[in-house]
Amino acid sequence: MSQSCSRRAFLQSSAAGLAGVACTAEPAVASASLAPATRLRSPVAVASENGLQAVQIAVEKMLAGWRPVDAAVAGVTVVEDDPLDDSVGLGGLPNEEGVVELDACVMDGPSGLAGAVAALQGIQNPSQVALKVMRHTDHVLLVGEGALRFARSYGFPVVELLTAASRKVWLEWRERRGAADKWLHPDENGPHGKAWFDQWKHKTGTIHLGAVDANGDCGSCTTTSGLAFKIPGRVGDSPLIGCGNYCDNDVGTGGSTGRGEACILANGGAFIVQQMAAGKSPTDACVAAVQRVVRLTKVKRLLDDQGRPNFQVKFYAVGKNGQFGAASMYPSKFAVADDAGARLLDTAAQFATAPR
Ligand code: GLY
Repeated sequence: MSQSCSRRAFLQSSAAGLAGVACTAEPAVASASLAPATRLRSPVAVASENGLQAVQIAVEKMLAGWRPVDAAVAGVTVVEDDPLDDSVGLGGLPNEEGVVELDACVMDGPSGLAGAVAALQGIQNPSQVALKVMRHTDHVLLVGEGALRFARSYGFPVVELLTAASRKVWLEWRERRGAADKWLHPDENGPHGKAWFDQWKHKTGTIHLGAVDANGDCGSCTTTSGLAFKIPGRVGDSPLIGCGNYCDNDVGTGGSTGRGEACILANGGAFIVQQMAAGKSPTDACVAAVQRVVRLTKVKRLLDDQGRPNFQVKFYAVGKNGQFGAASMYPSKFAVADDAGARLLDTAAQFATAPR
């Protein structure tokens, strides 16, 4: 582990922390160290690095009295609407057939409810559709054509999500595919060379946003266009409750970005919240999630020549008490907003240098 980075991130993260949290969770995860919640000085929102504006909006909404889950969706909506963010909503990189497929979920602490959509085509704001699933159905997850019909029934317009820039990247990817293509391991010596593939192969993006208001109520959201050039129908961690997103109003929120398959296999979001319920700080809970991914990654094609996972994964957490943190496999940043304003901080990185 990069000790200096981890310690710096821990200290930065702990600066917003208060004493402890109320916990009526299951005895298996309850901790004697948890104390009654106190009113926070300010709402807190934490997000992935692309969420600097989103966390600011989320805090403003919570200060205006919005429920944390609605504030979280308001925040990520600006990223879904941004055509220049190629990992979320409009302008997201498409599946292998050139179609943008979006995944999203929301979770609401006070009610304990969640909503999600997966492999949704043509709808710019899947996070808002996920809210509708949570509020207007007895279900948690709608996928594909059913999710699209559901969204249209609520008046969401069907739009072309593939921008000229995303189409260009997809066409370049498609042009170099050939008989020798191994699918999981695109040939690095194609017409665009190694640098191009280092940039685009296995590219994931996503925004996760966890929000806690001044009363200690929690809400969270994760939204993504998923893995670039994925097999149509591939669903990552983002819309899966307990993987890319989890929220327990007695404890806090946890979520992820990066390689979705790794987060699914580690049940990242739920694991982080369980770790916090057992007494870990948000940063340490996220570090434990990264280390769980390291331990669970065993096959050669996912390891570099030093035996480290050859992909990035990032975890984010906010405690009910306003403490927050993030950790990643390799150095990265995350966004936070509270009464000190919106800013980017270093994650606690498991490894100091990226894989070669
Ligand atoms: N974490 C986003 C995805 O893998 O789909």
